[in-house]
Amino acid sequence: MHQQANAPAPSQPALRAIGVSKSFVSGNLRTQVLKDLTLDLDAGELTLISGPSGCGKSTLLSILSGLQKVDSGRVQALGRELGELDLRALERFRLQNTGFVFQGFNLFPALSAFEQVELPLNHMGMSRDEARRRARLSLEEVGLAHRMRLRPAELSGGEKQRVAIARALAKEPQLLFADEPTSALDSANGQMIIDILHRIARTHGTTVLCVSHDPRLVTHADRVLVMEDGRILSDRRSAAPVIDSHGTPS
Ligand SMILES: Nc1ncnc2c1ncn2[C@@H]1O[C@H](COP(=O)(O)OP(=O)(O)O)[C@@H](O)[C@H]1O
Ligand SMILES: [Mg+2]
Repeated sequence: MHQQANAPAPSQPALRAIGVSKSFVSGNLRTQVLKDLTLDLDAGELTLISGPSGCGKSTLLSILSGLQKVDSGRVQALGRELGELDLRALERFRLQNTGFVFQGFNLFPALSAFEQVELPLNHMGMSRDEARRRARLSLEEVGLAHRMRLRPAELSGGEKQRVAIARALAKEPQLLFADEPTSALDSANGQMIIDILHRIARTHGTTVLCVSHDPRLVTHADRVLVMEDGRILSDRRSAAPVIDSHGTPS
């Protein structure tokens, strides 16, 4: 209930970085990975951050999702000032509001697709019936209704990533983060994954932030930010609405 009280006003960006800097120290060497970075992201859009390996994309994603702390600057997510939350509040915020999709799928080998999606919902304290209902719906949404009894070893790479998306989606998060979600996939599967993420943004009003160094994905996003050396070099919107050219997943 306090969620609603803290919901952002309609005009407020869903996710906001203000003058964020971040360094890592190893030995005597200090590397500044994010340099006074400012960024607003709106709900209902798929934003793609592209840029070369090592430019700070994953670090930015983990900072925006509250996983890592900033050295200086601020992060606001859904109207909350993340720097003001203690560890427990931050953990709760992340559990309730954020979903993650990774390059390597992060699935449990012994669990069926259905169980992968259902398990975290049980952990959130959802009733078993509700968890099962949501798991089924999410797997249907990514086109895997007919594959939900299978384990990862029996699924293709694209299908595994669709299970991971269903798992994130079943929480109905307002913020969905994807770190190189297509890197382990061929071109056709990569496009299908990005199209699914795009559809989620549109149909659920989710703020979807995807980082990738794959230039083929650029045409599938609503907005593309190019990052280099800890800064945002360019920020542009696609001229026309992106058409989902890949129909239903097969
Ligand atoms: N936990 C860490 N400790 C030390 N250095 C790190 C850590 N995380 C990232 N880095 C360094 O920060 C830079 C940016 O990393 P990263 O955000 O992963 O870039 P990208 O995702 O764009 O490839 C790299 O030089 C990387 O080695
Ligand atoms: Mg990375």
